[in-house]
This record gives sequence, C-alpha cells and structure tokens, in this order.
Amino acid sequence: MKATAVAPSNIAFVKYWGNADPRLNIPFNNSISMNLSAAQTRTTVEFDPAFTGDTLVIDGRPVIGAARTRVVRHLDRIRALAGTDNYARVVSENNFPMGTGIASSAAAFAALSLAGTAALNLDLSEREMTALARQGSGSAARSIPDGYVELKAGGGHTTAFAYTLFAPDHWDLCDIVAIVSRREKPVGSSQGHGAAETSPHFTTRLAELPARLKTVRQALRNRDVQALGEAAEADAISLHVVAMTSRPPIYYWAPGTVRLIHAVQEWRRDGLPVYFTLDAGPNVHLICEAEHGADVLGRLSQIDEVIETLVSGPAEGAHLTDDHLF
Ligand code: PMV
Repeated sequence: MKATAVAPSNIAFVKYWGNADPRLNIPFNNSISMNLSAAQTRTTVEFDPAFTGDTLVIDGRPVIGAARTRVVRHLDRIRALAGTDNYARVVSENNFPMGTGIASSAAAFAALSLAGTAALNLDLSEREMTALARQGSGSAARSIPDGYVELKAGGGHTTAFAYTLFAPDHWDLCDIVAIVSRREKPVGSSQGHGAAETSPHFTTRLAELPARLKTVRQALRNRDVQALGEAAEADAISLHVVAMTSRPPIYYWAPGTVRLIHAVQEWRRDGLPVYFTLDAGPNVHLICEAEHGADVLGRLSQIDEVIETLVSGPAEGAHLTDDHLF
C-alpha cells in the first residue's frame, strides 16, 4: 500500500487560463507544454488502515491548512476510485530550490496521482491518469505523458486528457527560468482561472487560440524556434492582458520581468534566437535551442535583477520508482 513517483514540472507554450467547468478543472482551451528536466517532484504515498488522518510533509516540513486540504481532496478522488477509506501519509520532495517561484503544482499533482493510484493497485491508462491529475491541477495533466504534451480541453472529464505530441528526444529545446523575485505571488492560478471570464479580452484570447495551437504543433514538428517563440510570447502576453484586465485585476510582473522582456528583444536584434514566456508569476522563462543555452546564461549573469537561474531540457513524464522517501 506504498508507492513512489517522480514527476516533472512543465512550461506551456500555449497556456491554460480559465475553466469551462471549475468543479472538474475542465479548461476552456487546449494547451501545449514541454516537461522540464530540472524541476522534478518525488512523492511517496502510503495508505494504512491504522492511520487516523491524512498527513502531508513537503521538503521536510509538515503542511497544514489550504495546501493540505487540496491534497486531501485529491486523495479522496483516488480513494473513491479504489473504494477505500484508508487514510494516507504523503511525503514529497522537490529537487529544485524552494522559493524559486517555479510552479510546483503540476509536478506535485502528477506525482501524487501516480503514486497514490499505484499504492492502491489501481490500473489506470495514461489517458485516465492525466484526467485524474487534471482534477488536482490543470497543468498537472501535462506532466504525466513524456516530452512535448498537449492537454485537450475536451469538454468532459474523460475527454479532457493529455497526450504526447513529440518524445523528449525530438528536439533539444532549452528552458532557462530567470528568477527575478522570490516574493510569494499575491494571487494563485486557481483564483486567476476564476477571474479570467471577467476580462473583456478573454473572448479575444479564446478566438486566437485555434490558430496559435496549430502554429505551435507545426513549429514543434518542424523544430522551428522562431515560429514557436513568437507564438509562445504572444500567448503569454495575451494571458497577462486577460489577468491585468480581470476584475479584480491581477498584476504578476515585477520590475525584473519587464527588464528581461526588453533584454530578450535586444538579444534577438543581436542575432541570438531566444524567446520568453511567463506563467502566473514574475519569473521569466527563456526558450532557445540547447546550442544557445550558454550564451543566454552568460547574458543573464550580467543582469542585476536576475537572482538565480534554472536550466531544463525536455523530460519524460511521471514514472514510478522504488526509491521511497520513507
Ligand atoms: O495548473 P494551474 O491551475 O496551476 O494553472 C496553470 C496556469 C499557467 O501556468 C499560467 C499556464 C499553464 O498552462 O501552465
């Protein structure tokens, strides 16, 4: 009744923002991402009839409050699938430094879904596993399959699932996260999804997406960094326009965010093919082909606002391991 899973975080080139069904976390739009090799979570789950409650420890610290409640709700989904009411002990560790502002919910709910179902001997297909992970955190569905992944909006629980578009070795892309602020973000993505529809720009964003999704699939297939990068930048800005014009408005950017958006444009004018994307936070993801990674890192080291960097390539999805945390 014990199992351990490792799952990567991911960065989306076309992002998920807004839920058609908030109860089931069914997104309004498809999204496309790459799993990140340098941002992984390992989680051990054990169910035991002797436990008197669910316990959660992340990076050595017991977790209570809203974060624990979100995990307990996900354990409840797994328990319902297995028809058990045994409580669980969940211990989780991130291999990337905490406080770097990397969205960890994707890796966390992917690892929890895989370890939790394995601990109860549930035999889910990859497609079913992605739909389960999606209920914990929409982006977590994309951390189950390998490499470059698309999450279908689908419209229903079984049709909103994720699958591999291309294996990790299809293209050696590089994602460099430039940490420009360690401040806890004021508004989490769950609240952001809830507010999305209040923006007058949300319908414009949704109307743009079918063409952008097609461009990104094609750019990945052709390993065309310019087409991918331009689409990823447009998508990130469109998400932030929606966030900034929601009611109440959400401003995720810090001074360093703007500094890096300008720097990336300047570096491109110098001939360096690098592009940016931004999740629901101030830190900037720089996207380039692996051969240009060192050049980008060198330039980032000259920028005062950059506190730290984290370099990833494409990674496989969630998988089980015998390397238990307890
Ligand atoms: O999975 P959530 O609810 O944390 O939402 C993810 C939101 C973004 O990271 C901004 C976009 C995405 O698709 O990853």
